[in-house]
Amino acid sequence: MYNDNPTLDQIDKVIDEKKQGEAYYNAELSGTSAKQFYIESYGCAMNFSDSEIVASILSKAGFSPTRNILDASLILINTCSIREKAEDNVRQRLHIFNKHKKNKPELLVGVLGCMAERLKKKFLEEEKIVDLVVGPDAYRDLPNLIQTAEEGEKSINVLLSREETYADISPLRLGSNGVSAFISIMRGCDNMCSFCVVPFTRGRERSRNPFTIVAEAQDLYDKGYKEVTLLGQNVDSFKWENPETGEVVNFAQLLERVAMVHPKLRIRFSTSHPKDITDEVLYTIKKYDNLCNYIHLPVQSGNSRVLELMNRTYDSDWYKERVSAIYQIIPDCAISSDIITGFCSETEEEHQDTLEMIKWANYSMSYMFYYSERPGTLAARKYTDDIPLPTKKRRLAEVIEVQSEVSRLHNLKDIGKTYEVLIEGDSKKSDQDFKGRNSQNKMIIFEKQAGYKPGDYVFVKVTDVTSATLKGHIVNG
Ligand code: 5AD
Ligand code: SF4
Repeated sequence: MYNDNPTLDQIDKVIDEKKQGEAYYNAELSGTSAKQFYIESYGCAMNFSDSEIVASILSKAGFSPTRNILDASLILINTCSIREKAEDNVRQRLHIFNKHKKNKPELLVGVLGCMAERLKKKFLEEEKIVDLVVGPDAYRDLPNLIQTAEEGEKSINVLLSREETYADISPLRLGSNGVSAFISIMRGCDNMCSFCVVPFTRGRERSRNPFTIVAEAQDLYDKGYKEVTLLGQNVDSFKWENPETGEVVNFAQLLERVAMVHPKLRIRFSTSHPKDITDEVLYTIKKYDNLCNYIHLPVQSGNSRVLELMNRTYDSDWYKERVSAIYQIIPDCAISSDIITGFCSETEEEHQDTLEMIKWANYSMSYMFYYSERPGTLAARKYTDDIPLPTKKRRLAEVIEVQSEVSRLHNLKDIGKTYEVLIEGDSKKSDQDFKGRNSQNKMIIFEKQAGYKPGDYVFVKVTDVTSATLKGHIVNG
């Protein structure tokens, strides 16, 4: 994902979330009904998954999705607040949407998701650039809110809920490759990491009824999907109590139930918190072949003092113990991470600890960011954002460089090995090649062979690697 020798310009690109914003559509779903909506999503997988819930609610209310913004009578932007850059991108898009409005006054523009709560007043009253503002727990209210907006009133619902999980809503799979899908298993976050705005934008943590999760996985499998990713801010703290029997289902038990849907349905999950990932989860992954050997276990920093300031509630020894447990119980497991550079008061020595951690944990890849202060967070209230931007960016460049080399070496060890790969589709560069992933979540590019199609499993022998991808050829042809 990242270049071998990143320049500062390239880093700016890496940390720009703009590439993640994507117009969603699915040709088969694009309808001809009078009312069409166009939706763009930014930020994490959870937001993309939420857009599918929104699409489902809207389709029941008589709207159909379109990929062509000019056909839409409703433009929605599902927003992310995690870093300042993400918010800047959304603002730019909103100004472009407003230009459309000049030619089409009946057009409605709505802001959904994490920025809704934070910036509702600004969007609706000060800048007057949107007609509706809808927070992540208020999507069921969208049909009413649209009606209010159509009547010319400013329309808003940003109430956060302690119960809403959209458990009964069957997401409309937008922009899907028909092979992999997201399943949202919980919402919100109770962790209060000091840098993070998510607990404020998405509210308290709540887990979804596991019966509806298993049913959704079964339905996807029946429709031909071969891979599901269970999503939550902190999946390892999944906990659902059956109100009738009092029975409690934890994450390991949920994984087991989903794994049993079908051995050919691959299961991934994200994100794990180092303080919550249990041996029970690891042994469950070991027990089922279709539970992928890949864990996203964000460390954020390799230094215990910084981790304490971040309120991560573990130190570097605890983290290392969890990593050791993963490699001991699931020897071929790949681990990836999230890393923040230049957090408040981070010294050069403490930054070095992060570089050391990348090497020690042998991450297959990482998502790397420099610290961006978010209004209202614990860090914004308690600490000074005192590391100069050039220093944050230089440390980020160093982190990216080390991770890049660690990834390259990690991949080099795969040369000569054969993996079972789930074909996802054509490779980006050539329609002569397929792309797919192995259990460890590594992307493998290989030449097409007659008789194989997306959704099939094939055995691929790895012959060449970069720091980002593996290359190989089919060996069971
Ligand atoms: N600044 C930079 N990165 C952040 N993240 C969360 N909040 C911030 C912030 N204020 C990163 C963390 C998290 C990932 C989703 O985004 O690494 O794990
Ligand atoms: Fe934010 Fe921490 Fe919750 Fe992740 S676990 S969403 S970083 S508060």
